[in-house]
Amino acid sequence: MARALLEVDNVSKIYSVGFIRKRYIEAVRSISFIIPDKGAFIGLVGESGSGKTTIARMILGLINPSSGEIRYKGRNIFRLSKEEWIEYRKNVQPVFQDPYNAYNPFYRIDRVLRIPIRTFRLASSKEDAEKLIEEAMMAVGLRPEDILGRYPHQLSGGERQRIMLARLHIIKPRLIVADEPLSMVDVSLKARFLNELLKFKKAYGTSCLYITHDLSEAYYISDTLMVLCRGRIVERGPTDSIINNPAHPYTRMLLNSIPIPDPERRWRERIIPKVITGPSRHARGCVFYDNCRFRKERCLKEEPYLVEIEHNHEVACYLYT
Ligand SMILES: Nc1ncnc2c1ncn2[C@@H]1O[C@H](COP(=O)(O)OP(=O)(O)OP(=O)(O)O)[C@@H](O)[C@H]1O
Ligand SMILES: [Mg+2]
Repeated sequence: MARALLEVDNVSKIYSVGFIRKRYIEAVRSISFIIPDKGAFIGLVGESGSGKTTIARMILGLINPSSGEIRYKGRNIFRLSKEEWIEYRKNVQPVFQDPYNAYNPFYRIDRVLRIPIRTFRLASSKEDAEKLIEEAMMAVGLRPEDILGRYPHQLSGGERQRIMLARLHIIKPRLIVADEPLSMVDVSLKARFLNELLKFKKAYGTSCLYITHDLSEAYYISDTLMVLCRGRIVERGPTDSIINNPAHPYTRMLLNSIPIPDPERRWRERIIPKVITGPSRHARGCVFYDNCRFRKERCLKEEPYLVEIEHNHEVACYLYT
């Protein structure tokens, strides 16, 4: 097996909200997975509120897990030394939904490409830096002489997104964390973006955690899929295997909720109610209990864990044990 780049080990996240009457939201519950260091493209799918962004933010070190550990090359990312943290930030890079918000409107776009070169010391001279920038822009189909010197608002959305990809060509991270990068992008640009992202796998062996609502995107880009339901991974495995043979009642419901002939398969809207009340919450049973057609008494009492049902295809459901 390929060496683990990132290990998410039994990670949970509980948010507390409200001042006088404090309430707790369990966004992510005991999640474990591994991202290998050799061009693994992993899709993380689940409906709105299932905890996808929470997982991304923990991996990026923006929020702490409530329990569990995230390790990069075997080291807890929240205990890295200053130098290790800089290396981590270089090697684990986010891709934003709308890069416009990530760019400072008062600076020319060049700065977006120069800052990482300086921060991560990627060039030994000014000439080197210019060459790096030019090569990166060409790699994503931007002409440096057209684009450099402009301000963010003077670029189209597609150009801004390609600048972001050029930035990644400069940094050459080991892992890209893409949280719904295409939800604001025109359909015509989607395939192009996904192909650009796939180039990183081929060129540098970069891995990617690709988060999306959109099954067609996940199907296109990922080798492996993880299905998230209310903060739990309920199914995971090779993408083909899951799409062609979904096992968990939740995964089946997600697939069925999408009109098949529609190439823009989406489940943006909530399919199951957000607020979880009732005994299932306290009994620590299956997260899908309240909505499951196949539920048994056992599902309420103890939570099913992931078991392999075919090669590398795992599902957490008592229908299979
Ligand atoms: N800072 C926060 N404080 C309190 N609750 C939060 C916070 N961030 C997220 N949540 C809650 O945690 C749960 C998971 O949120 P998260 O943003 O991870 O979901 P998501 O899968 O990314 O959803 P979407 O597809 O809509 O982006 C939700 O119930 C959300 O309301
Ligand atoms: Mg999100």
